[in-house]
Amino acid sequence: MIFRILFLFLVLMVTNSIALADQQTYIVHMDKTKIKASIHSKDSSKAWFESIIDFISEASMPEDKEEILAPQLLYAYETSLFGFAAHLSKKHLKYLNQMDGFLSAIPDELSTLHTTYTPHFLGLKNGRSLWSSSNLATNVIIGVLDSGIWPEHTSFQDSGMSPVPSHWKGVCEQGTKFSSSNCNKKLIGARVYFKGYEKFFGKKINETVDYLSPRDSQGHGTHTAATAGGNVVKNANLLGQARGTASGMRYTSRIAVYKVCWSSGCTNSDVLAAMDQAVSDGVDVLSLSLGSIPKPFYSDSIAIASFGTTKKGVLVACSAGNSGPFPSTVGNGAPWIMTVAASSTDRTFPTKVKLGNGQSFKGSSLYQGKKTNQLPLVYGESAGTKKEAQYCIGGSLDSKLVHGKIVACERGINGRTEKGEVVKVAGGAGMILLNNDYQGEELFSDPHILPATSLGASASKTIRGYIQSVKKPTASISFMGTKFGDPAPVMAAFSSRGPSLVGPDIIKPDVTAPGVNILAAWPAKISPSFLMSDKRKVLFNILSGTSMSCPHVSGIAALLKSLHKDWSPAAIKSALMTTAYILNNKGAPISDMASTNSSLATPFAFGSGHVNPVSASDPGLVYDISTKDYLNYFCTINYTSSQIALLSRGKFVCSKKAVLQAGDLNYPSFAVLFGRNALNASMTYKRVVTNVGKPQSAYAVKMEQPNGVTVTIEPRKLKFEKLGQKLSYNVTFLAIGGARVPGTTSFGSIIWVCGRYKVRSPMVVTWQ
Ligand SMILES: *[C@@H]1O[C@H](CO)[C@@H](O)[C@H](O)[C@H]1NC(C)=O
Ligand SMILES: *[C@@H]1O[C@H](CO)[C@@H](O)[C@H](O)[C@H]1NC(C)=O
Ligand SMILES: *[C@@H]1O[C@H](CO)[C@@H](O)[C@H](O)[C@H]1NC(C)=O
Ligand SMILES: *[C@@H]1O[C@H](CO)[C@@H](O)[C@H](O)[C@H]1NC(C)=O
Ligand SMILES: *[C@@H]1O[C@H](CO)[C@@H](O)[C@H](O)[C@H]1NC(C)=O
Repeated sequence: MIFRILFLFLVLMVTNSIALADQQTYIVHMDKTKIKASIHSKDSSKAWFESIIDFISEASMPEDKEEILAPQLLYAYETSLFGFAAHLSKKHLKYLNQMDGFLSAIPDELSTLHTTYTPHFLGLKNGRSLWSSSNLATNVIIGVLDSGIWPEHTSFQDSGMSPVPSHWKGVCEQGTKFSSSNCNKKLIGARVYFKGYEKFFGKKINETVDYLSPRDSQGHGTHTAATAGGNVVKNANLLGQARGTASGMRYTSRIAVYKVCWSSGCTNSDVLAAMDQAVSDGVDVLSLSLGSIPKPFYSDSIAIASFGTTKKGVLVACSAGNSGPFPSTVGNGAPWIMTVAASSTDRTFPTKVKLGNGQSFKGSSLYQGKKTNQLPLVYGESAGTKKEAQYCIGGSLDSKLVHGKIVACERGINGRTEKGEVVKVAGGAGMILLNNDYQGEELFSDPHILPATSLGASASKTIRGYIQSVKKPTASISFMGTKFGDPAPVMAAFSSRGPSLVGPDIIKPDVTAPGVNILAAWPAKISPSFLMSDKRKVLFNILSGTSMSCPHVSGIAALLKSLHKDWSPAAIKSALMTTAYILNNKGAPISDMASTNSSLATPFAFGSGHVNPVSASDPGLVYDISTKDYLNYFCTINYTSSQIALLSRGKFVCSKKAVLQAGDLNYPSFAVLFGRNALNASMTYKRVVTNVGKPQSAYAVKMEQPNGVTVTIEPRKLKFEKLGQKLSYNVTFLAIGGARVPGTTSFGSIIWVCGRYKVRSPMVVTWQ
């Protein structure tokens, strides 16, 4: 699934650049303070934007009027950002650049879409703490920007719910197979955005593949919405596996869906229009399981719009991306965004592969039929004549060679269940999926249509060797159902990693949450394997990705929001980060599926650690961040005044006096950068903590020093007299020892302790 989407994305980028004629969509940022007084529409800036469009249209009109298409205004943005999306030519752009109040024009871009058991794994228990009835009774609205929703699903029924909150201003848009009666007291809003998408591809939405309405034709949006805020559904399962109670993290939340993703992805102009609207509609939290290539915040549309929503008190949680385990792949890394990595839970769907030589290996699969016989095992050359046979690409396998046999296929290029289909069509009796070293020990569980299993990198290596070394290799696969108790969490190999290239002074991702083999609601129309040939119908499906971990965190943020109505998005983030844990269920440090030598995961994989909702609800201290703090941060990273203006949407002048440094942003973690030859170099960062625990409390600091630096904290005790009180402290990092190889990193942590409160911040020191 993950790979399929990525692949599609690459293909589309190529075709689009060829198809790009003269005009394309731009997201245009304007300076609100320059709005013309002559435009007398007070409540809407649209009139101003339209007058700009008219002006550039006339100015750029050639002699021969046929030559150029008129510019078109697609969206006016007024809530989360200030500007508009328009379809413009290079010539239009030239004139637009000369307009008073113009800040920047960013070409539209395609983003891609990146649970019965998880509440229990996260320590959420019925009737207790966060899931107590009083906390669940309050109104919280989660906005989900995704591929739409399957409204009839039991996860979205509204029995027993109170009326829709009166402050809600959203609507239920009608369209293909979706009427306003599809919304209810649970699913309170549904809107669609496709103007940008249609312009991007230069054609109308294909209605044989996509519903032109909030109805979900991909399943992804239904799955993520249910994970964040779906109802409690008893006896949920997929083909008998993972049986149990399915429930969203904040299962009494209202859900508002904004369909921005279509069969080929999601365009940013549509995503921004939805974010802008969602805030006006009245959502409390936004969940975005999508993203594109990381870029500086002033040219990252989602970062800009999230900054606007954060100012309005709406937390945005985003997936970190599925481009791991390679370093510096993390996306959606702006400091005001909650960036979520993905890891496993202790629930597995084990299989056993036994080779002819008696060796056996543990794998994973959601196919849970009868054990296969010991059958001939073929791979690559022994399965087909074409080079693609190794990957089991359609048409590459030779029926004569694979009939009645088990085929070993490498992961990658085409979908995992699709490989199974290729093997089945060629007459194969089973399939084993081999991981390469980068995929490590990551085991996806897929609902294959024939006896098939995933295997980790080390088993795969042995099996490749076995096939080469014996004349008649054989294998059998047996299926063991659903099991619990594996060491967990373990970081998923696919989860995108830090350090963030665009903001190396902040540790990203922020936290990790369950994102491997997650069970949640599924549209009745779509087969669990995504294959057309698969006629199975299911109510729940199991998917993996940071797309799945993000809505866990959005739902938990909604829980915290209902408990602490006055907390800012930064305070909620801080609570989730400082209470995250870094030990697994066996008491050992969290490991990484990407490592074949069982090395441990680092903050570049999991940020502050794995979310712990119950502890986050009572964190003791929070690191809050105001809009002004973020604006000062832009000054420290040398953003120009117009780059700052498009984020601040108003006048902001960097202070010449104050000595500011990026590391002073009041973030709940520490990233320190030293030159490679730094010796005795020192860096002092300031932090301010707010007491949200007990009125009178005394905190003492504990530390885990990173290698190569001496860390001193001043003061080492913080004594609070009342709630809401703020106290500051300084952390000084002194580089010791000799020169380092550039890129060397070391890790540590600072923990403020008072009784049961442990407010932990990771430290990462990097020698550049
Ligand atoms: C729409 O999609 C279907 C199925 O992929 C395809 O057969 C058809 O040609 C498409 N129509 C257009 C107008 O692109
Ligand atoms: C494990 O792998 C990591 C990264 O590939 C490497 O840096 C480390 O040295 C290895 N550790 C051992 C004990 O081989
Ligand atoms: C910003 O500019 C100052 C002064 O030119 C320089 O010392 C500093 O390294 C720059 N910071 C960044 C993040 O580029
Ligand atoms: C670094 O500090 C140590 C201890 O104060 C001192 O002995 C040494 O000379 C210093 N080295 C440099 C290069 O400044
Ligand atoms: C932190 O350092 C700054 C600058 O050196 C100093 O003005 C301030 O008093 C220090 N704060 C604390 C709490 O020590």
